[in-house]
Amino acid sequence: METITKIEEMKAVVKGLKSQGKTIGFVPTMGFLHEGHLSLVRESRKRTDSTVVSIFVNPLQFGPKEDLKDYPRDIKRDSSLLEKERVDYIFYPDAKEMYPEGYKTYVEVRDLRDKLCGRSRPGHFRGVCTAVLKLFNILSPDISFFGQKDAQQAIILKRMVKDLNLGVKIEVLPILRDEDSLALSSRNIYLNPEERKAALVLNKSLKEAEMLIEKGEKKSAFIIQKIREIIEKEPLAKIDYVEIVDLDELAPLKEIEKEALIALAVFIGKTRLIDNTIVETKR
Ligand code: PAJ
Repeated sequence: METITKIEEMKAVVKGLKSQGKTIGFVPTMGFLHEGHLSLVRESRKRTDSTVVSIFVNPLQFGPKEDLKDYPRDIKRDSSLLEKERVDYIFYPDAKEMYPEGYKTYVEVRDLRDKLCGRSRPGHFRGVCTAVLKLFNILSPDISFFGQKDAQQAIILKRMVKDLNLGVKIEVLPILRDEDSLALSSRNIYLNPEERKAALVLNKSLKEAEMLIEKGEKKSAFIIQKIREIIEKEPLAKIDYVEIVDLDELAPLKEIEKEALIALAVFIGKTRLIDNTIVETKR
């Protein structure tokens, strides 16, 4: 495994791999890796000839009051985890390498960027899209792997790839959870034991929603109300949003007719957590 910090060097390596006819699998991350990230890495190892994992805490996707400074970082631990997974390359640029002085170009997927998380995190998806487009240009991956955990991110990036004819296959893999069902996230480290317990309401409320739908409930307003009631019973939890939307435009659905995304964001203390599920009604 090799760690590369410079864009030009990374591009030269990619050129070499391509000239040998190797396919490239790419897993973009912000580091502080957990099993969720590693599940993407394993899939990439299975499906492609060489796997590149990027570790870049992308300043563009953090709002001025967000946790850029405190975001957990541990490159040594990340490297040893990726070495064990037999990753071929870590791409580990710093912010100056990605956005040198005078940087001026940004990419955004309009409308979709304003929905769900975009409402409380203005500029977030513009930051994500800009970083990921740059990474795609540097790495020219055949397949790039993302987690359903960040459902809106995956939907937006798929649209970016389509709209800009990028020719990268986006593969979205299921949410990995801890034994207590909390979705794995690098930000879970912020939670104290009491908050961690409180955080279980996210998945608990989604499970309840799934059960209602299983029983035939279709009305979004009713399901959302049930989810809200469960979360509001938890004193440490404060809802940012709970929404039921379609999977293309992220537009709110009055009724769940076929597939729908139930997405939520909840503050547990100061930590903002997200979770979601894709549901389908039987006809
Ligand atoms: P990060 O939060 O580090 O996540 C990297 C990838 O891991 C994303 O595709 C995310 O959806 C996936 N992931 C996170 N938690 C997961 C879980 N519990 N189960 C499965 N997959 C999970 O998402 C980002 O970084 C950044 O926005 C990035 C795409 C790297 C752009 O900067």
